Amino acid sequence: MSFRQLGQSDLNVSSVAMGCWPIAGITTVDATYQDSVATLSRAFDHGINFFDTAYAYGMDGESEKMIGEVIAGRRDEVVVATKGGIHRVGKGQDFDSRPETLKRECDESLQRLGTDFVDLYYLHAADNQTPIAESAGAITDLIAAGKVRTAGASNLNVTQLQEFHDACPLTAVQPHFNMLQQEIENDVAPWCREREISLCVYWPLMKGLLAGKMGRNHKFHPQDGRPKYPMFQGDEWEKNQDFLDELRAIAAAEGCTVAQLVVAWTISRPGITSALCGAKRAWQIEETAAAMQLNLTDELQSAIDAALERRGPAVSRSAV
Ligand SMILES: NC(=O)c1ccc[n+]([C@@H]2O[C@H](COP(=O)([O-])OP(=O)(O)OC[C@H]3O[C@@H](n4cnc5c(N)ncnc54)[C@H](OP(=O)(O)O)[C@@H]3O)[C@@H](O)[C@H]2O)c1
Repeated sequence: MSFRQLGQSDLNVSSVAMGCWPIAGITTVDATYQDSVATLSRAFDHGINFFDTAYAYGMDGESEKMIGEVIAGRRDEVVVATKGGIHRVGKGQDFDSRPETLKRECDESLQRLGTDFVDLYYLHAADNQTPIAESAGAITDLIAAGKVRTAGASNLNVTQLQEFHDACPLTAVQPHFNMLQQEIENDVAPWCREREISLCVYWPLMKGLLAGKMGRNHKFHPQDGRPKYPMFQGDEWEKNQDFLDELRAIAAAEGCTVAQLVVAWTISRPGITSALCGAKRAWQIEETAAAMQLNLTDELQSAIDAALERRGPAVSRSAV
C-alpha cells in the first residue's frame, strides 16, 4: 500500500484519498444513502485511510454524517480532513471565513463526524473580506483547543498561502489539479514543495471525464452539474475525447483502466501527497484505489507526455 507523510506532521495518508463530495448528491445524479455508505466502506476496505469532506458537502452535512457512521469504531485508523468557510444556500454556496464562523462550523462538523477532533482542517476558500491571517488564527485556536490536529488551505493563491502560513503553519494545501489542469506548477506547487507542505489535489479525474468512460456522444442528465464547465463543452469536449482515445489505447496495452492510469500519473507528480478521488459507487473507488499498485514506468510516462503534448492547453476553471 502507498502511505505518505502528510506535510511534516506525524500523520500518514494513502496516496489515493476518498473525495466525499459526490456522495453529498448536490450536483451528482443518483447518489443514494445506501450506495454512499457502501462506497465509503469499500474505500476503507481497499487501503484508503484518508477521507476528504467539508462543512458544505450536503444540504445538511450529509457527507460528514455518513463518514461519521462509517468510521465509528475505527477512528484511530483513519485520517479525516474537513473544511470550513463555505456554507450552502440552497443548492448554491456562500463564503464566510470569519474566525467565529470557522469555529462554529468546526464544532458542527465534529458533531456530524462523531469525533472529538479532525486530523486536518482546511480553510475552504477566502471570502475576500476577512483577512487571511484572521481565518488562519481561528485554525491556530482550534489546534490549541485540541479540536484540530493540522491546518490546511484550499483555493488560495500563493500570496494568500504565505499570509496563512505566517499566521498558522500549513501542513497541506488543496488546489485543483489533473492532467488537463496543471497550472499549479507555475506557482502553488513549487511554493509547497519548497516548504514541505503536502499537495492534496482535487478533481484528479476532472469530475469523471478522465475516468474515460463517458463516450464522445455522452448525454448529460439535466441535473448533472458538469456541463457548465468548459471541459465538457464544444471544441474542448472534442479535444478531450481525442486525448482520451489515446489514454484508452495506452491503458488497454498496459492492462489497466484509464482512471487507474490517470490517478497513478497524478500521485507520481512531485509534491503531490494524495489525489482526492471522488466516487458515488463502491466499484468506482475500488477501481481508483487500485491505482496505488500501478507502476508508472518511464515508457508509460513518455506515452502520456506525448499524448498531453498533442492535446495542448485546456480551458481551465476552478470549483470556486
Ligand atoms: N477544495 C475544493 O474546493 C474542492 C472542490 C472540488 C472537489 N473537492 C474534493 O476533491 C474530491 C474530488 O473531486 P470530485 O469528486 O468533484 O471529482 P473527481 O474525483 O475528479 O471525479 C469524481 C467523479 O468521477 C466519476 N468516477 C469516479 N471514479 C470513476 C470510475 N472508476 N469510473 C468512472 N467514473 C468514475 C464519478 O462521477 P459519475 O459516476 O457521476 O460519472 C465521480 O463522482 C471531492 O470529492 C472533494 O473531496 C474539493
